[in-house]
Amino acid sequence: MHLNHDEERVLAGEEGHSQRKAMELLVALGDIYGAERLIPVKSAQVSGASFKTIGDAGIKFLEDFSEDAKVKVRASVNPLGLDLRRWKLMGIDSEFHAKQSRIVAAYASMGLEPLYSCTPYLAGNRPRKGQHIAWAESSATVFANSYLGAMTNREGGPSALAAAIIGKTPEYGLHLNKNRVPRMQIDIDGIPEGLAPLAGHLVGRIAGKRLPLIKGLRLSVDEHKAFGAAMAATGAVSMYTFDDGTKRTGIDTSQIEEKTSIDSSDLRNAAEEMKGGETWDLVAIGCPHCSTDEIRRMAKFLTGRKPRGACDVWFCTSRQVYSKCPQEVTILKRFGKVLCDTCMVVAPIEKMYRRTASDSGKAMVYLPTLGKQRASFRTTGSLLEAISR
Ligand code: F3S
Repeated sequence: MHLNHDEERVLAGEEGHSQRKAMELLVALGDIYGAERLIPVKSAQVSGASFKTIGDAGIKFLEDFSEDAKVKVRASVNPLGLDLRRWKLMGIDSEFHAKQSRIVAAYASMGLEPLYSCTPYLAGNRPRKGQHIAWAESSATVFANSYLGAMTNREGGPSALAAAIIGKTPEYGLHLNKNRVPRMQIDIDGIPEGLAPLAGHLVGRIAGKRLPLIKGLRLSVDEHKAFGAAMAATGAVSMYTFDDGTKRTGIDTSQIEEKTSIDSSDLRNAAEEMKGGETWDLVAIGCPHCSTDEIRRMAKFLTGRKPRGACDVWFCTSRQVYSKCPQEVTILKRFGKVLCDTCMVVAPIEKMYRRTASDSGKAMVYLPTLGKQRASFRTTGSLLEAISR
């Protein structure tokens, strides 16, 4: 990879230890993927923020790194293992809280924004079409590439942090237009209410490493958020292109090698497959973090209803969305905990619950693995019915 004079100086350690380490990481990544140069990024989004997922080794890495590192571009942090204000209410122990606080302090000292959300694009950091960014959270990268038209690879936590510190990333993968062209086509014929996450789940499984063009994908922005999150969890590609039939898309279809389709019966079968049990310890909504519209819609549905109280309920969102709809949050709080900074997957729920129901296709991948849960998929509507009467 070609480095300019300033980049060479950083690599030689003339700007300090952490800058050198960050540059070494980017250069190694660039060499592996055949990048020719580094390109500036507008923002970074860093994963690896929960003590549950990074452990003591992660704390040490971040504390060492933070001694002389500062971010050069806007950078934010993914969800933590707890809500920094409501961790006791969640049932988190003080040892976990103490470890988590060291991670928070390390990121803060490097200048990362304390968003602690997988939806930075709903919390003030919304990249524009064509902007290069270095984001790590898989659900956010797929939304940024596919819905917003920004350009990012699915970074790892360390490479996103390195990009934030240097302000650049190696130019390869989805930073190059030639790699943003669909290689396969999936026709979708109608998605039943609430099953967009399962459509994403199936598309990810079918597409694997190939960037798909999805024809007939008529979704709201919140449904795109849930669809892409699930797709990136079951598949290895961080982007889809879509045609909802409403406008000329100009999508290059010259490299499509395979066509297939998904219909509503495939989605109903998937829902049946992921149905799990009928009783739960926890109902968790907000993967990815709920938008303002989602909070408002749920509050509207629950107004005038009473909590059933059969299990715990978590509504996960970002601090920004939480503060935008105080009245709706008050309504949701009658039915469960409205949590910020965290989520059902990166919080230590395995210490508290065994059976969790969620409306998220991504959570169906990670609840059984990272969360050690017996997972049940239900639509948002059926979960709201189940927790209220
Ligand atoms: Fe976000 Fe956690 Fe889901 S990071 S996308 S809520 S697994």
